[in-house]
Amino acid sequence: MNTSSILEVANISRRFGGLMALRNVSFQVSRGEIVGLIGPNGAGKTTAFNVITGTLPPTGGEVRYEGRRISGLPPSRVVVAGLARTFQATSTYPKETTAENIYRGMLPRIRESLVGPITGRYHRDLSASEVDGEIDRILQITDLQRWANVEAGSLPYGLQKKLGIAVALATKPSMLLLDEPAAGLNHEECNELARLLRHLRDEHELTLLLVEHHMALVMELCQRIVVLVQGEKIAEGTPGEIRGNPAVIEAYLGAPDYAHA
Ligand SMILES: Nc1ncnc2c1ncn2[C@@H]1O[C@H](COP(=O)(O)OP(=O)(O)OP(=O)(O)O)[C@@H](O)[C@H]1O
Ligand SMILES: [Mg+2]
Repeated sequence: MNTSSILEVANISRRFGGLMALRNVSFQVSRGEIVGLIGPNGAGKTTAFNVITGTLPPTGGEVRYEGRRISGLPPSRVVVAGLARTFQATSTYPKETTAENIYRGMLPRIRESLVGPITGRYHRDLSASEVDGEIDRILQITDLQRWANVEAGSLPYGLQKKLGIAVALATKPSMLLLDEPAAGLNHEECNELARLLRHLRDEHELTLLLVEHHMALVMELCQRIVVLVQGEKIAEGTPGEIRGNPAVIEAYLGAPDYAHA
């Protein structure tokens, strides 16, 4: 095992009937890295996130987080272990305010503290003022303060996506998996997203795994990139290596709907 690894994906496979959505995929992410996971539509990127975060069990292989096997654990336990995700579609509660949605993100931690005495796994209990302080802190990091009391469903799309990140941050993760955070964002929102992700890595010591079709963003932010095509890892390397990799170029040229990348 690589001792600087925070996440190790070891030979994971996932079958849906006759379709191998992932086939023996392995990669690792080191603490403090921003790693890109790219590939044409249907490559298996979201399936990889689902397997890593416990939403789907793998049909083969295993996932280790901070040295501990997490495959087989339910998503709620994976979150409490420090691994959070955002969703490809916006996933907030539209009738609840921005602040209430962030509070929902904190619930796994709070619930954990309630069952602490029974399970022996104890997390610090949070008082009401600590909860409010934590919500304020996350509103500030994501620059959503002025929207705190606005219903999530009435926020502009770009802010709803940002709220998805805020909710994930409320779980207090050490690693965050982002599924197409730039999709549907305009140029300015994209630049702001890049700043936020860099800030999370640099100032909050988060490790990031980024699924994204926006190639300029991936190339700008990521130290390393893993490329999936039809469920298989076909390449891994620095942005420069990936840009010049003939197998990657071929995979993308074969996917004409990729013109927006
Ligand atoms: N729950 C499921 N049941 C059956 N097939 C599925 C399921 N989830 C995904 N698939 C299939 O697995 C393959 C990989 O899908 P996945 O959503 O992981 O791709 P992706 O790389 O995230 O694509 P995109 O860039 O379009 O989001 C696709 O062929 C998809 O149709
Ligand atoms: Mg996807």
